Formats: sequence, C-alpha cells, structure tokens
Amino acid sequence: MLNPDQIVYLNGEFLALADARVSVLDRGFIYGDGVYEVIPVYGRQPFRMPHHLRRLQYSLDGIRLANPHTEGEWETLVRELVGKQPFSDQAVYLQITRGVAKRDHAFPPGVPPTIFMMSNPFPFPAREQIENGVAVVTAEDNRWHRCDLKTISLLGNVLMRQLAVDHNAVETVLFRDDRLTEASASNVLIVKHGGVVAPPKDHLMLPGITYDAALEIARAVGLPVDVRPITRREAMSADEMWLSSSTREVLAVTRIDGAPFGDGKPGPVFRAVWKAFQERKPHPSDVAAQATIR
Ligand SMILES: Cc1ncc(COP(=O)(O)O)c(C=O)c1O
Repeated sequence: MLNPDQIVYLNGEFLALADARVSVLDRGFIYGDGVYEVIPVYGRQPFRMPHHLRRLQYSLDGIRLANPHTEGEWETLVRELVGKQPFSDQAVYLQITRGVAKRDHAFPPGVPPTIFMMSNPFPFPAREQIENGVAVVTAEDNRWHRCDLKTISLLGNVLMRQLAVDHNAVETVLFRDDRLTEASASNVLIVKHGGVVAPPKDHLMLPGITYDAALEIARAVGLPVDVRPITRREAMSADEMWLSSSTREVLAVTRIDGAPFGDGKPGPVFRAVWKAFQERKPHPSDVAAQATIR
C-alpha cells in the first residue's frame, strides 16, 4: 500500500510522497536514463553503505553522469531519510536520472540531474522461504551487455521476474550461451564438493554487494571459494544453489523448473553461511531470530 504521507527526498527537499512530482520529460521516464541503488538498513544502521556508494559511482561513470554528491553528503542524506521513517529495518532506494530536457537521445548540456530517494520497510524473506528454500525457473539471458551497471532501464529484468511469478517461483536464473550469469534481481552462487563457486564479476552480471558479503563470509568460516565461469550443466547438477541480494540476503534454491533441486532442502553449506550472515548484520531481525536454521 502506498502511504501518501511517507517522507521521501527529491532534489534537495524532504517531502511527503504525495507531494513529490517529476516532469514527464524527465529522462528517467522517457529513456530509463539513470542509475539506482538499494541500501539495506537494519535497526536504522545502513549495512555496507560505502560499498553501495562505490557501486553507485561505478554506475554513474558507466553512463557518463556526474555524481551530484560526495560520499559524505550521500551518507548524511541517507541517514536523514532513514531517521524520518517510523520503522527501523528499511530498504533505501536512491535514483539519479539525467534530468528534464526536450526529448532528444543525446545528453542535454547543462541540465541538473533528478535525485530521488525513498525508504521502505525492509521486505524480509518469509520465515518459510529461509527454512525451506525457494523455487526458481531458468531462462536464456537476453539482456544487454552492461549488466554490471545498476541502471533503471530494467525491462529485461522485469520480464524475467514476471516469468518467475507466472510459474509460482521467486526468481528466474539466467544463462547466457550456456554460462550462469545471475537472476532477475539477485546473484546466483552454487556449492560443489563443500566449496562455494561463484561466477566472476564481469559486464554480464551486477557486482552484488551481498555476493561479496556471502563470499567474504564463506572464506571467514573456512569454506573454499572458487570464482570462475559456471556452465548450465554444472549449475543444474550443483550440490546447492543460492540467491543473494540486499533484500533477500541469502536464500537457498530448492526447486528448479518445477522439480526439486538436490534433496529439496536448504543444504549444510547454506545453513552455515546464512547463520554467519545474520551474525554480521548490525542488528538482528525478528524473522531471522525465529527461523529454525541450525
Ligand atoms: C540484476 C541484479 N543482480 C544482482 C543483485 C544483487 O545485488 P545486491 O546484493 O547488491 O543487492 C540485484 C539487486 O537488486 C540485481 O538487481
């Protein structure tokens, strides 16, 4: 449900959602010409904010849009927005577009960017999803070749997510020319012979902040980690498969394309990494505390 009184940020002002207005000529609306970030916030503490702000800079550089703020200014704005929400676990959404101009593909000179931020209650995965894992479908990755940029042009991802929903699944896992890339809004990792295997960060996938966190945690708990290309056959016959994202954290895949995956239960390596992930969050969540993953 939309809350018209929710405080959002638009171009230098904190205001009610109902009062936040953008021109129909905004290049975000006309071309999807912009970038975004989603920063998880636990107990009002942003998690890995510097990593998200560094990736924001990378995305801005990739679309040749100047960063309107320093890292310090972003931190201040994000914390102020977080402080204005009545709930403590949040997901901050931040978007910058190339601003408002007469419609013309080429960049408009001298136009200020449009800067928008909102913060919603953190959409924790359901306890059932943590304990039993989730269903995914698979598809050929037909998106463009700059999936490393977090752009708001998300039609490819939108269509892939809908495909999952159409099949009562939570994600669509993507393969490009037989290679595992990622999913519509998460990264994908697998487990082979007790070690974690992850596809290398390149232009075909988003360099996930949670992907990095999961690999760091895996190493910290003593698991072997191998970053290398993964074929479809290898992924489909893996011992475990996980999704990672800022709002899903890590989730085990237990069904693929309508059939059970592995033994149909979250595996032991997932359980170890999920637990360690919960311990590293700035503030434990109720859902995590209640989930019986031991
Ligand atoms: C396409 C895609 N891949 C991966 C991710 C995971 O990235 P992160 O862990 O930084 O949220 C996302 C996040 O929304 C995404 O949209």
